[in-house]
Amino acid sequence: MSQIAVVVGSLRAESYNRRLAEALTRLPAAQGHDFTFAEIGTLPLYDQDDDADQADSVKALKALIAGSDGVIFVTPEYNRSIPGVLKNAIDHASRPYGQSAWSGKPAGVIGVSIGAIGTAMAQQHLRNVLAYLDMPTLGAPEAFLQWKEGLIAEDGTVGAQSADFLNGWMQAFVNYVAVHQA
Ligand code: FNR
Repeated sequence: MSQIAVVVGSLRAESYNRRLAEALTRLPAAQGHDFTFAEIGTLPLYDQDDDADQADSVKALKALIAGSDGVIFVTPEYNRSIPGVLKNAIDHASRPYGQSAWSGKPAGVIGVSIGAIGTAMAQQHLRNVLAYLDMPTLGAPEAFLQWKEGLIAEDGTVGAQSADFLNGWMQAFVNYVAVHQA
């Protein structure tokens, strides 16, 4: 059993990405693993002057990541990159210098948008950041999802056309985490 942190890059109440993230944790391949969602909406704006006295919300995020065997980033694409709230969270938990919580944690990147390229550019930007943070990141399968009615129902059920694909993605991710735990 692995402890997995889930970081959702949208704060929107009806976020498709949050719905995707919650559905992922209920797939067959996720069974037996423990998923905890990071709270990033209450983090202050990152200010390097606060590195020596991080806010409780920052400490909580860092503790969650530090105690995890792997991290799933589920993010929308904002203006062809990652949302600022996600980058803010990443920056917080990367500091103070030399005390990054992310280092060495295996990562998975996935996302859904209403645009046709399904967060591809945001994911590529995120991969660049994760590489710098020394997070080994699942390379395949890639998962670029375009939101369509029925992709994930309000009750969290994944549509029949995507269930096998998403379950395969989750299986690949938990296998990847296990390899890095060994
Ligand atoms: C977007 N959206 C968007 N979609 C996309 O495919 N590529 C993009 O670059 C952008 N850019 C963008 C910028 C900003 C500021 C917003 C608010 C939105 C649309 C985006 O896919 C849509 O709002 C999703 O619903 C966002 O994900 P959540 O919040 O539903 O998880």
